Amino acid sequence: MHHFHYKKNELHCEEVPLQKIAEEVGTPTYVYSSATFGRHFRVFDAAFQGISHLTCFAMKTNSNIALLRAVSKWGGGVDIVSGGELFRALTAGVPAHRIVYSGVGKTEAEMEYALRSDILLFNVESADELLTLANVAKRIGQRAPVAIRVNPDINPKTHPYISTGLKKSKFGIQIKESLKLYEASKKYDSLIIRGVSCHIGSQITQLKPFIDTVRRLRDFVQLLKQKGFDIQYIDLGGGLGIPYKNETPPSPAQYAGALKKELKDMRITLLLEPGRVIAGNAGILLTRLLYRKKQGNKNFVIVDAAMNDLIRPALYGSYHEILPVKKRGGRKERVNVVGPVCESADFFAENRPLPVLPANELLSIMSAGAYGFTMASNYNSRLRAAEVLVHGNEFYVVRQREEYKDLLKGEHVPKFLV
Ligand code: LLP
Repeated sequence: MHHFHYKKNELHCEEVPLQKIAEEVGTPTYVYSSATFGRHFRVFDAAFQGISHLTCFAMKTNSNIALLRAVSKWGGGVDIVSGGELFRALTAGVPAHRIVYSGVGKTEAEMEYALRSDILLFNVESADELLTLANVAKRIGQRAPVAIRVNPDINPKTHPYISTGLKKSKFGIQIKESLKLYEASKKYDSLIIRGVSCHIGSQITQLKPFIDTVRRLRDFVQLLKQKGFDIQYIDLGGGLGIPYKNETPPSPAQYAGALKKELKDMRITLLLEPGRVIAGNAGILLTRLLYRKKQGNKNFVIVDAAMNDLIRPALYGSYHEILPVKKRGGRKERVNVVGPVCESADFFAENRPLPVLPANELLSIMSAGAYGFTMASNYNSRLRAAEVLVHGNEFYVVRQREEYKDLLKGEHVPKFLV
């Protein structure tokens, strides 16, 4: 359920016509519905009622500080993967004790920043990283709260680029191997073992991979507890899928129900890192049709957004529904919706039936709230899009469109060329 709907044949976000946003802010623009985002967060979080838990929004999906502020106000935390994300989260007012830090390549500087900020948990992904963290913590006279990210070797049955819990992937540590690391951690006074973490992949549309994972983790935690480790947290990562087209992922209630059942007798706090399921269908990318072109037997519709704005179709062949902002009946034609970037992969849809659309028409690329703006780049020196947050019948520009001068930030011509 989301709040992008037609009213009198005009696509609205909540009470605001998208046409109005396009006129005032221009295109391409990301538009987020605060009602949808809030509903998704609260439904997810409430589904875990009855078990001690913390919902840490995976901010790699959408790191606009307005959205992070909202998450924080609703009692949520965030899952971060870089010093930059930590900076954003703290700037947005997310309390450090609700921040968990994942990722295979944390630098010493990032570790120090997170330690000094007093975050909740480091999800450590290798023996080398554990040693580095122990040394950094010792050097600055702190103790680092640690969970080891295990790799449960579960096939999440999703796109290979977004599967992360398989034996062959770079993420986490095999359960058996990780036991050695837990033992090794005892040597370091600067580490406090707090938990076990994992994340098996993204856009997962079945319950079984999650259930298999939680069972493996549960057994492992029992073993660790027997060995005297004070395991307070199980971090199950994110991964719950969403409907882009006709997928039927489990609801948050089904997901939470299954996990709670497996964990009911364990005295732990469950950490969750949902991203896509909260943000994905809370945002769209608003774009304007520039030109139409027939080439061979193909109809191209060229829009002003491109792969630098939303790279998912180019990178994963992902499907995003495309809706005309003004609802049109009549004949449909099959078109390729493409952007202005100089790459053949710069497309949003191929061979898609759409009503025949005139130039200047506005289009809404749906389900773009997760991994949309956060994966945007300046490729082709294109300005990154504006971001707008809608709240009832009001809307706010929560990130200005970039200007040409932003493209040159920090860039210099060396003296010998002057
Ligand atoms: N926690 C960790 C440690 C992760 O690596 C991820 C996503 C998440 C949580 C959030 O997963 P979610 O709930 O959103 O499925 N760019 C790709 C997705 C990459 C996912 C990476 N990890 C895409 O656009 O589909």
